[in-house]
Amino acid sequence: MEAILEGLNPEQRRAAEAVRGPVCILAGAGSGKTTTITRRIAWQVASGACRSDEILAVTFTDKAAAEMRARLARLGVEGVEARTFHSAALAQLTRSRGERPGRILSTKALLLRQIGNSLPRPYRFRPAGDLATEVEWAKNRRLTPDGYRAGLGEHEPPIPADLMARVFRDYERRKASSGLVDFEDLLELTVRMYEQDEWAVAAVRERYRCFTVDEYQDVNLLQQSLLELWLGGGDEVCAVGDDYQSIYGFTGASPEWLLGLATRFPHATVVRLEENYRSSPQVLALANRLTPKLGGA
Ligand SMILES: Nc1ncnc2c1ncn2[C@@H]1O[C@H](COP(=O)(O)OP(=O)(O)OP(=O)(O)O)[C@@H](O)[C@H]1O
Ligand SMILES: [Mg+2]
Repeated sequence: MEAILEGLNPEQRRAAEAVRGPVCILAGAGSGKTTTITRRIAWQVASGACRSDEILAVTFTDKAAAEMRARLARLGVEGVEARTFHSAALAQLTRSRGERPGRILSTKALLLRQIGNSLPRPYRFRPAGDLATEVEWAKNRRLTPDGYRAGLGEHEPPIPADLMARVFRDYERRKASSGLVDFEDLLELTVRMYEQDEWAVAAVRERYRCFTVDEYQDVNLLQQSLLELWLGGGDEVCAVGDDYQSIYGFTGASPEWLLGLATRFPHATVVRLEENYRSSPQVLALANRLTPKLGGA
């Protein structure tokens, strides 16, 4: 059993041994975040704190989810679900409803190109990618076409707001009439299902009791809402993130959720991983000089 914790530095070990949530791990790139949380999961199972099939580990990209699964497999842990937020949402929707929510629209560009072509002349040739980014901006903040304009705040849409609201509405309408759902819909539909269906939310809370989130700095309102519904006021959560590298800023991700975790859960175990196992000391010194200027501090 001790082998699970072997080679961890004292801080990593402290986090891995904290088998009860909430645990908040703040760390930079290459500091062993994924190492630490996968060892912690293995320790949760080995120590009997959690059964492996009660654990749900989520992250953002397929690559990162595959990495978690591979590391858990190397640690000999079987039966833990390690998925992206989207794939967890899709699986849960499908399980609850007994059918898939629709065909998944993997790119918005085609539909938005068609809609874009009907815009007044000066806006007609706006790249569909800009419109897609805007629709995602809105949906990641849980804005609907009706609430879009009021929800803009300081944000500048790529075309005038009233036109953009029309594009957004048209996009939603065409998508629905073709029986399609986009990636944000997977999360939104799951959140709504849990908000409205107490049986469904009770079932998911019965099934999963311990949650782990890797790359938590990338979480946005949709994903945070889903996580809170899973937790249902509970606190069996371990979140690890890098307060400097919120790469998904445009999707509405905000390191605030990460930094706010310890405030929301005053009894959380907070660990900082300072050691970097990837970069040379020279690269690190430079990075440490630069990061505060990038607005991370
Ligand atoms: N205590 C340690 N001793 C030696 N090597 C370690 C230790 N912790 C982590 N490493 C090594 O450092 C590298 C980075 O680890 P890991 O992928 O867990 O970091 P990360 O913080 O998740 O990185 P990223 O920011 O890329 O997600 C890996 O090769 C890992 O084996
Ligand atoms: Mg990692």
